[in-house]
Amino acid sequence: MGMTSLQPSTEIRLQKVIAQSGVTSRRQAELLMKQGRVTVNGKTVTIMGTCVDPKRDHIKVDGRHLKPQAPDVFMMVNKPAGYVSTMKDPQDRSTIADLLDKKSVRTFPVGRLDYDSEGLLLLTNNGDVAQACLHPRFHVEKTYLVKIKGHLLEDAIQKLEQGLTLEDGPTAPARVRKVRKVAINSWIELTIHEGRNHQVKRMLQAVGHLVLKLKRTKFGPLNLGNLPLGNSRHLTDREANALRALLHEPSEPLVESPVINKKPGWAKSTKKRIVKHSSRPNQQRGSQKRLRRS
Ligand code: URA
Repeated sequence: MGMTSLQPSTEIRLQKVIAQSGVTSRRQAELLMKQGRVTVNGKTVTIMGTCVDPKRDHIKVDGRHLKPQAPDVFMMVNKPAGYVSTMKDPQDRSTIADLLDKKSVRTFPVGRLDYDSEGLLLLTNNGDVAQACLHPRFHVEKTYLVKIKGHLLEDAIQKLEQGLTLEDGPTAPARVRKVRKVAINSWIELTIHEGRNHQVKRMLQAVGHLVLKLKRTKFGPLNLGNLPLGNSRHLTDREANALRALLHEPSEPLVESPVINKKPGWAKSTKKRIVKHSSRPNQQRGSQKRLRRS
């Protein structure tokens, strides 16, 4: 068997192309390569990291051509309360798959919303973009419109804005905006860039407020807009490109920054990330770094 390696290039790594075509996982694809079962343009390729152009090169696994790569699909759905944000539910509850047409079922949800939460849920078949949206390093902001019991006092706002400690550790600073009071309850807007389980509910509980309703209105560069509850739509090219641009974001540097406490003389220094206050999707910035493909 004539073993060979192709010239490394800026194209996509062979094991990734195989995995993306749905034949197998990336790890298994590496094994197939090691076993000499993968050919590119008729030549067996065993060298990891070999790059190919899936549109031009003829890739075969066990002598069979790979199916052409599926084009990216990006959608958003306005999830109603009473639906799980997965495609299947072992308890047989309504799922977001019930809200999509059959063609969209090959996408998967990026992150989750609680069963009783509403709002913007991104769906895609692009694993790299999904990973970037969820990875804390990319600081993708999520904005929630939240109805809480009671009225938020300045003290509570300060705690949320400074970051507070939950049982799974401290939260990053949030942005808070009072929207309106409704009798003994109120609506507020909370923006965070983490995605821990029930995070918004737990943060508000930590400052003494029960969450009565929760709706996600923004996710990174995406806005729910006036998409009706229970409806879905494909993203525009501009929105999809804004998401893809996350992959070119430079990594967030860790900087020493002082956190000034209220009491004079009580300044402490913590490792703190520079918080971006808006997603700047289309902006190409200085030193660009690709998300490492794991
Ligand atoms: N935070 C929550 O508590 N619930 C959600 O569904 C999303 C964020």
